[in-house]
Amino acid sequence: MEIKVEEINKLSTAIKDISGYDFTDYSIKSFSRRIEKILADYKLSTDQLIVKLHQSRDFLEEIVREITVNTTELFRDPELWIVIKNDILPRFTNKDSIKIWHVGMSSGQEVYSMIILLNELGLIDKAEIYGSDINTLVIDDAKKGIYRFRIITDYLDNYNKVFDLKDKRQSKKHYEKYFSVDWLKGIIKLKKGLIEKPIFKKHDLVNGGNIFETNFDIIICRNLLIYFNQELQNKSFYFFHQILNDDGVLILGAHESIMGGMVTKFEKRDNLYLKKGKNYV
Ligand SMILES: C[S@@+](CC[C@H](N)C(=O)[O-])C[C@H]1O[C@@H](n2cnc3c(N)ncnc32)[C@H](O)[C@@H]1O
Repeated sequence: MEIKVEEINKLSTAIKDISGYDFTDYSIKSFSRRIEKILADYKLSTDQLIVKLHQSRDFLEEIVREITVNTTELFRDPELWIVIKNDILPRFTNKDSIKIWHVGMSSGQEVYSMIILLNELGLIDKAEIYGSDINTLVIDDAKKGIYRFRIITDYLDNYNKVFDLKDKRQSKKHYEKYFSVDWLKGIIKLKKGLIEKPIFKKHDLVNGGNIFETNFDIIICRNLLIYFNQELQNKSFYFFHQILNDDGVLILGAHESIMGGMVTKFEKRDNLYLKKGKNYV
C-alpha cells in the first residue's frame, strides 16, 4: 500500500527525535519505498512502528538497517578498482603517508579491497585506513571480516579481473594471501592481518562531522549519496572538499556525480574527483 507523505514525515521526525538519525533529507522516493516494505514485512501501522521504535534501541538499529541499503561486494565495479590500482594509489609512492576514509562502507568489503591493493603496491605500512557507516550492525560484520558463500563466486570474478588472474590455480595462490575460502561452510574469511588494520567507527554523514579529526588523501563514498536529496548531496560534497588534502581524491559510485557549487572545486575523471589544490592551473 502506498504511504502518504504526512505519514513519512511523521515517521522520519519520530526517528530523528528518538535517535538523532536524520532521514528528512533522504530522497523521498526510495525512503517511502523502504518504509512501505518495512510496514508490510512487520505487519505494523506507522503509529505502531513509532511505538516500537521508542521501546527498543535494538529494534531501532534493525529498522535503520532495513531503511538503508547495505549491498556491497569485494572489489565491486572491478574496472574502478583497476583505475585505483594503476592511476590513483601510485601517486602516493613517494609520499610519507596516505590517509583514506571509506564513508558508508557497509560491511567493509570495500575497505578490505583497498587494503589488498595497498599491500600489493607496497604502500600498506604508510597507510591509515578509516571506515564508517551509520549502521552498527554492518560495522560489526566489517570487524569480523567473514562473508557468505552466495557472493563468493562474484567476489572471485571481481578479484580475478582486478589482478588479471587467468586460471583457478593462479587465482587461489593470489587470494590465499588475503582470505581463505571454505566451500563447505560457504564463507570466505579474511586474514587477521587485514582485519586488524582499519579503524572502524559509527558515523552519520548527515550530521556526524569529521570524527577522525584528520584530513584525507582519498575519500571513498560510493552508493550512499544516491539516497540523499540534492541539497544533502551538495552539503556532503562541501564537507568532503573541506576535509580532503590538496590534490586529494573523492571517489563516488557509478550513478553519483558532483553538482552545484562544488563542481568547479574538483577536476572530474569519470567517477573520480581530484580536489583542485592551491597550485592547480
Ligand atoms: C549501498 S551501501 C554502499 C556500500 C559501499 N560503499 C559500496 O558501494 O559497496 C550504502 C551504505 O550507506 C550507509 N548509510 C546510509 N545513510 C548513511 C548516513 N547518513 N551516514 C553514513 N552511512 C550511511 C548504509 O548503512 C549502507 O551501509
